[in-house]
Amino acid sequence: MKDYKRILVTAALPYANGPVHIGHLAGCYIPADIYVRYQRAQKQDVKFVGGSDEHGVPITIRAMKEGVSPQQIVDKYHAIIKDSFEKMGISFDIYSRTTSPVHHKTAADFFKKLYDDGLFEEKETEQYYDEKAKTFLADRYITGTCPVCGNPNAYGDQCEKCGSSLSPEQLINPRSTLSDAVPVKKMTKHWYFPLQHYEPWLKQWVLEDHKEWKNNVYGQCKSWLDNGLQSRAMTRDSNWGVKVPLPDADGKVLYVWFDAPIGYISATKELTDQWADYWCKEDTKLVHFIGKDNIVFHCIIFPAMLKAHGGFVLPDNVPANEFLNIEGEKVSTSRNWAVWVHEYLKDFPGCEDVLRYVLCANAPETKDNDFTWKDFQDRNNSELVAIFGNFVNRSLVLMHKLCGGKVPPFHNAIIDADDKQLMEDIGAAKIKITQSIEEYRFREALFEIIDLSRKGNQYLQKKEPWKKASAENEQQQIDNCIHLSLQLTANLAILINPFLPATAQKILHLLKVVEKMLDWKNAGSFKLLSVGYTLRAPELLFRKIEDSEIAAQVEKLRTNAITGSNTQNAEKKSADGNADQQPANLLKPEIVYDDFAKLDLKTGKILSAQKVEKADKLLKLEIDLGFEKRTIVSGIALHFKPEEIVGKQVVVVANLAPRKMRGIESNGMILMAEDKNGRLHFVNTEEAIAPGAGVS
Ligand code: MF3
Ligand code: ZN
Repeated sequence: MKDYKRILVTAALPYANGPVHIGHLAGCYIPADIYVRYQRAQKQDVKFVGGSDEHGVPITIRAMKEGVSPQQIVDKYHAIIKDSFEKMGISFDIYSRTTSPVHHKTAADFFKKLYDDGLFEEKETEQYYDEKAKTFLADRYITGTCPVCGNPNAYGDQCEKCGSSLSPEQLINPRSTLSDAVPVKKMTKHWYFPLQHYEPWLKQWVLEDHKEWKNNVYGQCKSWLDNGLQSRAMTRDSNWGVKVPLPDADGKVLYVWFDAPIGYISATKELTDQWADYWCKEDTKLVHFIGKDNIVFHCIIFPAMLKAHGGFVLPDNVPANEFLNIEGEKVSTSRNWAVWVHEYLKDFPGCEDVLRYVLCANAPETKDNDFTWKDFQDRNNSELVAIFGNFVNRSLVLMHKLCGGKVPPFHNAIIDADDKQLMEDIGAAKIKITQSIEEYRFREALFEIIDLSRKGNQYLQKKEPWKKASAENEQQQIDNCIHLSLQLTANLAILINPFLPATAQKILHLLKVVEKMLDWKNAGSFKLLSVGYTLRAPELLFRKIEDSEIAAQVEKLRTNAITGSNTQNAEKKSADGNADQQPANLLKPEIVYDDFAKLDLKTGKILSAQKVEKADKLLKLEIDLGFEKRTIVSGIALHFKPEEIVGKQVVVVANLAPRKMRGIESNGMILMAEDKNGRLHFVNTEEAIAPGAGVS
């Protein structure tokens, strides 16, 4: 390991075309924040920079849809995102934005340097052009009728109704979204960055020099490098973005993935005059926290840009996380299948640390993971409340009851094996937690902390100081037990601080000690609280989360997803609509037979179908189950016309609890197959089966 003098931590700049959801937090902001808070506690010279990514096509599209300017869009979402981060305790030293003048200049200068050094290839290609609006059109700016489902408002890269990926040529009646004109092909010039020139260097730097990178990161890089790199256009025809700093480049801007990572540099410039120390001195450790869809940009393209420019440090590590699914399904912002951070903050005020806890304990560090509200509740109630919170609370309660509200003395003469074991456990935990955090294994570190508090509970349980209270000569034993428990409480505050900062502050308050105690070097000490010191009366660190709160969240998730009633539904995909994403996991976690056996599946026949008022995705179905007729509300209206499905045979989940949707009680669910383009299909056989037959 190199000897570093300073650390620069970046977290991916989120697109300012919608709010952030918990997948964003779990993917990079929480891990980045834990790492930074830990480094601060280690008294390292560390800076944490971030900001909003405010350029790119999705933002201009969103603006067009809402009938406002792109600037208004980014102003709105930048504010929401910034506020969400602040409230969640993501402790950026600066949270900037790529529309800032400093950024425009920094990005333009960067481009100009590469241009002046002759590093770009200039190429002319044919692109769609709007003669009325006099501008080239990205695929996303072209709409027309989807050849697959007939949706009249499909985009040139994708139909959002049926999910098919398209090219503009496939659209029936293509029109420009700007002017309604029929787009024509026209030559246009762009500047390409020849990534292939950097391939040998990248292979050495990533594949040989950074074998320690996480498997998921290393693996993705290897597959990109093995497949061979190609020139990539670093400019676009658009009026929204950083203007290409060349004469005759009117209507051309930097490609959003060229300018956005330079945003890290710009943000550092805005933060400090010493910015060059962090970016240009070899003894800086640069760490990029990102989600897996950003790996190629941070491990290949941006490093190649930095290398080409010269004079910049390269990332020491890029600890990317995989994706967090929600209740077994991939997050989809267009379907509104997401848990939005600003809504969580409203629904669970004062529970910021709980979300931080759950998202770290269940972080998709090595593979995609699932967030469920049930797991959220369980982890809160049975880990934070029942283990960690319980230990801290018991220590304080017992101190008030058995030691007169003061830190009791420790009597060395009667120290016993349990005391020694607990002290050893604290020391060992510190070493393990330190190493885990240094190596970006935050789940493991958090688990160790909870485990340490579990050991605290076991210690109290074994010593039973409350039983000894009656026998006078046993006060010394009581003193030792409470003394150590309180010292452990102080240690827990230090260790939990990077993960749950608000909780650490609450403990500081209870122990009446100052912030400085949280310095990492203090962990492992048993002299954190002085004998005779009066502590505050205990207050609970965490509250129980009730079943009803969880049920309400699950209901909200499902209702919003089907009806799309939430307005925050712009898909946050790769800014240029390119599919840089890797495929998600194909299977849900394994279940046992008993889980399956709980489902009651029956064949049924659709007797009638009608649209549900004011819900464009819902159909109300009457289903014949043989032994009874059922009303089922199904979110398939975008896929089928009511008349075309009457008479179809379906498989019904017959024992699903009833649920009201748009005031109609739905009694069950019908099964459909969804293909990779998001189209739904009936899965029934040709053969007619009488309604009511069991399916297993
Ligand atoms: N806006 C991108 C996304 O959300 C991330 C940009 S990271 C940066 O996927 F490095 F380009 F800033
Ligand atoms: Zn379609």
